[in-house]
Amino acid sequence: MRNATITGWGKALPPLVLTNTDLEKIVDTSDEWITTRTGIKERRISHVEATDLATVAGRHALAAAGLEPDALDLVVNATCTPESLIPASASYVQAKLGATNAGAMDLNANCSGFIYALVTASAMVSAGVVDRVLIIGVEKLSYVMDLTDRSTCVLFGDGAGAVVVEPTDEPVGLAASELGVDGTVADILCVPEFGTVGSPGVRDPRRAGIKMEGPEVFRRAVTKMGEASLHVIAEAGWRPEEVDLLIPHQANQRIIDATARRLKLDPARVFVNIHAYGNTSAATIPVALTEALEQGRVKPRAKIVFAAFGGGLTWAAAALTWGDRVTPIATSDAQVPEPDRTVWDVLAPNLEFYGNQERSG
Ligand code: UT7
Repeated sequence: MRNATITGWGKALPPLVLTNTDLEKIVDTSDEWITTRTGIKERRISHVEATDLATVAGRHALAAAGLEPDALDLVVNATCTPESLIPASASYVQAKLGATNAGAMDLNANCSGFIYALVTASAMVSAGVVDRVLIIGVEKLSYVMDLTDRSTCVLFGDGAGAVVVEPTDEPVGLAASELGVDGTVADILCVPEFGTVGSPGVRDPRRAGIKMEGPEVFRRAVTKMGEASLHVIAEAGWRPEEVDLLIPHQANQRIIDATARRLKLDPARVFVNIHAYGNTSAATIPVALTEALEQGRVKPRAKIVFAAFGGGLTWAAAALTWGDRVTPIATSDAQVPEPDRTVWDVLAPNLEFYGNQERSG
């Protein structure tokens, strides 16, 4: 039977760091509040375009799989912060990588985007529609982070993670998946204007940043990530205690802990890196997976669960059996270019734009 499995992985985190202490200088917050309510200590801010991050992550994933870019049949860019809509930002990634034989598309399911893309790509590979797919979860959320709004700006960051999916005859890869959404409540986590809803040529700072009813999103995330994880574990024919590693979306340490409790998993079997990067939406899971592999926390034939929740309101979970190889075939020296500016220089246009809200009201 033809299955689809992950054969390569990689990440790209921009070097500029914005700490909780830095945020204390611009909004009425504290390191103590952010740490205890979210688990986040710092996040990365990108001085380059999202497709530059995506390309670096993609190069690492290709090297890990032992593939050249022209071997790809498809590039899927999971993102809700594309640098352009026409073209789809995946076109730039395809060009920067030199994936000359690939199709390319963006996929937007917000924070659940990586799992949506993995399920889509795995189905296409298993069906024989394509052979080799590069999936990238990439975000430049600093663009929509309203740095005057303490209830949201402390949560997000920039970054990219990538995987390569290829066919295999082994009984590995996706064992079960669930994709869900409740669009009736989509407005409780949204950017009110980032599309044709706005007036042409006008970007209103009051409607251009992320708005969120935090406690309600929190409640729904805890419920859905737990439920969806249990569903895919059952559908895969596993028992929760057999799960070797849960790699959850990194939105809030307390959501991760609640999901782990629902599965009765001890912390040693849950991967967490939210302290270092905050919430990077579609990038959290492929970055976390890459770091789990780097740290030797993925064993051959491991039973892994991915779970996510976010804008849409989407949720998704996947149960997959890892293959035999847990080390890269080769490595790439691709890296995000060194910044020639400080984090404050990079954020200056953001501070100026969102700082104009009162005046534009
Ligand atoms: O990936 C997409 C999915 N996103 C999520 O899953 C996020 C889900 N939501 C959350 O993670 C949490 O709801 C937040 C971290 C956003 C907020 O935590 P919370 O414990 O739900 O706090 P809250 O919104 O109920 O606010 C509690 C208090 C309020 O003050 P009062 O009214 O009690 O005086 C807020 O104004 O904390 C205040 N507050 C802050 N204080 C200091 C809100 N943000 C901050 C802040 N610093 N950054």
